[in-house]
Amino acid sequence: MVIQQLLAFSAVLVACLAVSAQGTEFAIYKLSLTWPASACIPTKNCKTPIPKFFTIHGLWPTYKSDKPVPPYDATTNKCNVNPVRPQDLVPKLATIRPRLETKWPNLRVGKTDDIFWETEWAHHGMCSDYPQDPLTYFDVTLNLSNLYDPLRVLGVQPSNTPHPIETLLENVYKNLGAYPQISCNMPVKGKQLYLKEIRFCFKRARPPFELRNCTVDMDDMCSILEFRCLCSSSRVLSSSKQWYGRWSGKSRFSK
Ligand SMILES: *[C@@H]1O[C@H](CO)[C@@H](O)[C@H](O)[C@H]1NC(C)=O
Ligand SMILES: *[C@@H]1O[C@H](CO)[C@@H](O)[C@H](O)[C@H]1NC(C)=O
Repeated sequence: MVIQQLLAFSAVLVACLAVSAQGTEFAIYKLSLTWPASACIPTKNCKTPIPKFFTIHGLWPTYKSDKPVPPYDATTNKCNVNPVRPQDLVPKLATIRPRLETKWPNLRVGKTDDIFWETEWAHHGMCSDYPQDPLTYFDVTLNLSNLYDPLRVLGVQPSNTPHPIETLLENVYKNLGAYPQISCNMPVKGKQLYLKEIRFCFKRARPPFELRNCTVDMDDMCSILEFRCLCSSSRVLSSSKQWYGRWSGKSRFSK
């Protein structure tokens, strides 16, 4: 009997180790913040005035590998028991609604804030550690976004001066002791590259508060296109062609 229990226990242990070795373990919360001027190219896609501060995109349960924890699905991914349904979400946020409208707006023309929050809840909140408590999930995210203002830790302000993405990563590391993840966009192919989002990674906890290095320090565009992100006026960061090919495109943490 004891042996059987031991064997069962070892099996579970081995299974756990195997899972974490592949990085498929929900270990990180990623706070994703958007630079509206970059996300809003062309500007006609966005409501005016376009905010001049980083707005919240979301707080994302993330595997160690940097892959997002997949969204809740009642049949295929029952990550939590009876999470609050997206259609029941908005009334529960009434007390923090004014703060959400300011810091977590839907930038897109013709799209309501409610839709954005419901989508973030469906994609990320329902599999978080707050399945029955969206008010706290959204409140924690607001609080983290106040604590970690990118304009205070990037070491540069929006200007016409371009900056290599690695300088920004190092600046944040100097200021916070952990590498963030930067994501870029390039509205016109082959032209300037802009810093679109910065993401801070936290050790999974309720609430998350301990910063971690993000597993991947540059996302999608920044690395795939082998450009460096540089910084320009109203849009913070862009790159220009002279950098093309001068950089391997490998992320600091990629193997
Ligand atoms: C967020 O910050 C406010 C103001 O400091 C505080 O009252 C509240 O408890 C915090 N919320 C959470 C969930 O930590
Ligand atoms: C982040 O990575 C650097 C080296 O790349 C390391 O020195 C540092 O301890 C790490 N910080 C955290 C918070 O894990």
